[in-house]
Amino acid sequence: MSIDYTDRIPNNVDLADDRRLQRALEKWQPEYLRWWRELGPEGSHDLEVYLRTAISVESKGWANFGYVRMPDYRWGIFLAPPEDDRRIAFGQHKGEPVWQEVPGEYRADLRRLIVTQGDTEPASVEQQRHLGLTCPSLYDLRNLFQVNVEEGRHLWAMVYLLQAHFGRDGREEAEAMLERHSGDPDKPRILGAFNEETPDWLSFFMFTFFTDRDGKYQLASLAESAFDPLSRTCRFMLTEEAHHMFVGETGVGRVVDRTCQLMREHGTDDVRPHGGIDLLTLQRYINFHYSVSLDLFGQELSTNAANYYTTGLKGRFQETRIDDDHLLTESRYTVAELKGDAVVQGEAPALTAINERLRDAYIDDCQRGVDRWNKVIADAGIDFRFTLPHRAFHRRIGTFSEVKADPDGRIVTEAEWDRRHHEWMPTPEDRAFIKSLMRPVTEPGKMAGWIAPPARGIDGRPLDFEYVRFG
Ligand SMILES: [Fe+2]
Ligand SMILES: [Fe+2]
Repeated sequence: MSIDYTDRIPNNVDLADDRRLQRALEKWQPEYLRWWRELGPEGSHDLEVYLRTAISVESKGWANFGYVRMPDYRWGIFLAPPEDDRRIAFGQHKGEPVWQEVPGEYRADLRRLIVTQGDTEPASVEQQRHLGLTCPSLYDLRNLFQVNVEEGRHLWAMVYLLQAHFGRDGREEAEAMLERHSGDPDKPRILGAFNEETPDWLSFFMFTFFTDRDGKYQLASLAESAFDPLSRTCRFMLTEEAHHMFVGETGVGRVVDRTCQLMREHGTDDVRPHGGIDLLTLQRYINFHYSVSLDLFGQELSTNAANYYTTGLKGRFQETRIDDDHLLTESRYTVAELKGDAVVQGEAPALTAINERLRDAYIDDCQRGVDRWNKVIADAGIDFRFTLPHRAFHRRIGTFSEVKADPDGRIVTEAEWDRRHHEWMPTPEDRAFIKSLMRPVTEPGKMAGWIAPPARGIDGRPLDFEYVRFG
């Protein structure tokens, strides 16, 4: 499954054999490039960046690194190889062959799923567009741009599906993807977390850890889809997503590492005067990014989610590895709910609790990352541990959006929330302090004072490699 880079749009889907689709995509391409110039990474247009470009969808096809002038990046359409005789793994069509075309009765639902996923991709590029101006190192600047070009490619992935399978509606949706903008009061992005700002690099690392990880779980569920082109698209996107989460986890980990170093050096928790980010501020950033990312999974109980499952459009995380009937018509699932002023464990039909199950898998995954950050703190001999706040904390969607809860999940009054939320959420002072640290460091091998160097470079290169060249 090699990728043809001689085509105007690199692809491994034989685009040249489908003139109508090729023309539609070639018409969309200049609009995409205009969007990238206007709302893509600011100040990147003269840079040469040491990027990874897929030359085939097999794993070795990824080991392809080289300098790319940013606007010349080749966004393309790459699907994972088809699986022989792939069968639908769940729902009422379980056991039937997967679909290569969209069944008429599921057209609207599938379109909605693809549009919702697709909308997040350019949104994150828009959210991150100013960060290049304040990079903590060339290594980090390169990673930011790698994430950005891949999110751009994820938009291509979804737009390909829309243009190839949804006719005129698909073309209109593809155009609308470039018309909605993150934080735009009139035409915002579809999901809340994608209208938040990513104003600084700490937010960027938190975003790629927590919010890109939501992307992993959504893509993994869509990779189970009976609509095979969607499944194959998402399977390849997941390989790119893994790098985004690596950037987030190691980014936060390096901040923690630097903080601990400063704490020991100066014998104080208050590392701000020494140019570090104190652990309590980091905890508040965790609280914020984690809680807004939890919202992305939707309502705890959802008949839409149940329908997507029953009709085979969207599965569970690692559906085929789950040992049950894959129908869920009889099963139950534990769901946290409110009883008066207490959070209790309730039970609901497993079908309607599909979102909650996915959120649970996500929470476990987040916890594993937090444990690794905590190990950095423990290894430094410091008595402090990060915790993920309770799922009731700071929610805007679902059962807990109706109440105020502290990070332990205790329901509090509005008055107590107002009095104490500065302990739990990033304050304007926190944000101003983080902002004050954001000064560009662009000398090869040099690192901003608030973050430790990474354990190793990219593609076996040394840390002082010129990951980005300024033209
Ligand atoms: Fe993405
Ligand atoms: Fe991502």
